[in-house]
Amino acid sequence: MTDVLVIGGGVIGLATAIALSQKGANVTVVERDLCGHGATWAAAGMLAPEAERLEGSLLEFGIRSRKMYPQWIANLMRLSGQDCGYWCCGIVAPILADSAECDRLLQHHKYIDREQTDKCQSGLGESITGSFWLPEEGQVNNRKLIQTLLIAARSLSIKILEGINVYQIERDRNRVTHLDTSAGKLQSDRYILATGAWTRCLLPLPVKPIKGQMLSVYDRDRQLQRVIFAPTCYIVPRQDGTIVIGATVEDTGFTQGNTAAGIMHLLNNAIAVYPAIANMQITETWWGFRPYTPNEIPLLGASDYENLIIATGHYRNGILFAPITAKLLTDFIIDGIPTPFAVND
Ligand code: GLY
Repeated sequence: MTDVLVIGGGVIGLATAIALSQKGANVTVVERDLCGHGATWAAAGMLAPEAERLEGSLLEFGIRSRKMYPQWIANLMRLSGQDCGYWCCGIVAPILADSAECDRLLQHHKYIDREQTDKCQSGLGESITGSFWLPEEGQVNNRKLIQTLLIAARSLSIKILEGINVYQIERDRNRVTHLDTSAGKLQSDRYILATGAWTRCLLPLPVKPIKGQMLSVYDRDRQLQRVIFAPTCYIVPRQDGTIVIGATVEDTGFTQGNTAAGIMHLLNNAIAVYPAIANMQITETWWGFRPYTPNEIPLLGASDYENLIIATGHYRNGILFAPITAKLLTDFIIDGIPTPFAVND
């Protein structure tokens, strides 16, 4: 028996496993693939509640999590000895000349004109008339983060079971009794469902996949030092010269693969926003599936089963929301403190 069995080894599952373990729980993570190879791997790693234009309680949630990042990363670095490219580089969110909202946006207190924008980041496309400057926003290298989380988890003796399919969550009245898996029965006191876009394979919750196609190019000159979050695409420079460009938003189920149209759309928009990309070498193309909920708010906390806790539906912001999700679920499980965005709200 283990205290907590986390179903899903993405950023949400691993972050929660680590937080629970640091509070003394005995934790196992079971993952159908390799840990972090779903949306966590596909993401750009932006920490951007303002650029993403979250609103109301979700914006507050995102800003709280963004503020938790420095300490959260420091803890992971201490446990793992690894760096994960956390970089509070600031985000420039350009306004395009033809933006329908242009007049309203000019009044915003974070608006800067073209001249000030150029001081923040040179080389932006001609159609940009000004931007929002969001100095508290930034990024983490999500692929490095996966490795860091795994090393940190193992350092805490969290058991990681990869390549195991959970077929069914077996229940008796209002309790989960065990998981029926490709490795046999798995049993625990409590279970956390952190299965992202694949949630409906196990429970009928309102979560569906929204595909995002992405690509990266290599910037030999490393002139780009800010994340550029335009209305049509985002451009994320890593410290090693890689530039990540995203992303399409496609309601096509679990359709695999990059399409010519998807990549053309991203490149046309990215080159318009940052023309130097035209001469950079393409280094990779990929795609992933965001766990979308109808109101774009995650599902967190208690379920209809007293020992099953839900942590899914983080849609576009799983990397950003990981620290706060891990903390709130740990507070809920250890101290019974209710979570926001509970499933039955
Ligand atoms: N957070 C960016 C995206 O989901 O494309």
